[in-house]
Amino acid sequence: MSTDWTAMKRALVRCPIIPVLTVKDVAQAAPLAQALVSAEMTVLEVTLRTDCAVDAIRIMAAAKPDAWVGGGTALAAADIERIIGAGGRFVVTPGAPARLLAAAVAAAVPVIPGIATVTEALTARDAGFRFMKFFPAGPAGGAAALKAFAGPLPDLVFCPTGGVSLDNLADYLSLPNVVAVGGSWMVPENLITQGRFDEIAVLARRAVDRARQLRP
Ligand code: 3PG
Repeated sequence: MSTDWTAMKRALVRCPIIPVLTVKDVAQAAPLAQALVSAEMTVLEVTLRTDCAVDAIRIMAAAKPDAWVGGGTALAAADIERIIGAGGRFVVTPGAPARLLAAAVAAAVPVIPGIATVTEALTARDAGFRFMKFFPAGPAGGAAALKAFAGPLPDLVFCPTGGVSLDNLADYLSLPNVVAVGGSWMVPENLITQGRFDEIAVLARRAVDRARQLRP
C-alpha cells in the first residue's frame, strides 16, 4: 500500500472535507478545481460517472499539482488504473468486493475502500486497510453507526460520505474515528453546469470555515 498516506492525511487534517465531483464537461474541470482550492479544499474526488471523468482528473491534477486530485466510483481494477494513469493521487471505491480489494492493496496510490457494515469493515481490515469510506453514510446509520463502530473497531477510521451536509457536519466531525467527510453539497449540479464557480467557492469556503470551527 502506498506510503503517500501520511501526506494525504495531513491535507485532510487541514481540511477534513472531500468534495465529491461529477464533471460532465471537461471545460468545467479547471475552474471547478480552482474554486475549491481557493477555498482551501485540497483533496478533490472526481467520480468516474461521466465520459470525461478521467480527462477531468488529468486536467485538475495538472492544474493543481499541490492538491490531492483523485478518483472515486472505482468499481474494478481497471478503474483504479485509469485514475492513476490520469495522475490521480488517490482512489475511492463505493464498496469492497474481494477482487477490488486485491487491486486496491496492489495500487500505487492510497485507496479508500467503501464499507457500510462491520463485516465489510472487517473484510477491508483483513486486507490491511485502516481508513475506509463509510457509504452511504446517512442511509447506513449516520454518525450514530460510526460512533458504535468505534467500540469493536478501535483501530479503524472513516470518511463518511452520502447525505453529509453543513447541517450534520458537526455530528460527523465530532467523532474521533472520522478523519474527514465526503460530500457534494458545495458543488450543486446547477452551479457547475451554469459555470457559477464563484458561488461554488463561497459554498466551499463556508464548509471549510465550519469544519475549522468544529476542529480548531
Ligand atoms: C456520492 O457517491 O455521490 C457521494 O456519496 C456524495 O453523496 P452526497 O451527494 O449525498 O454528498
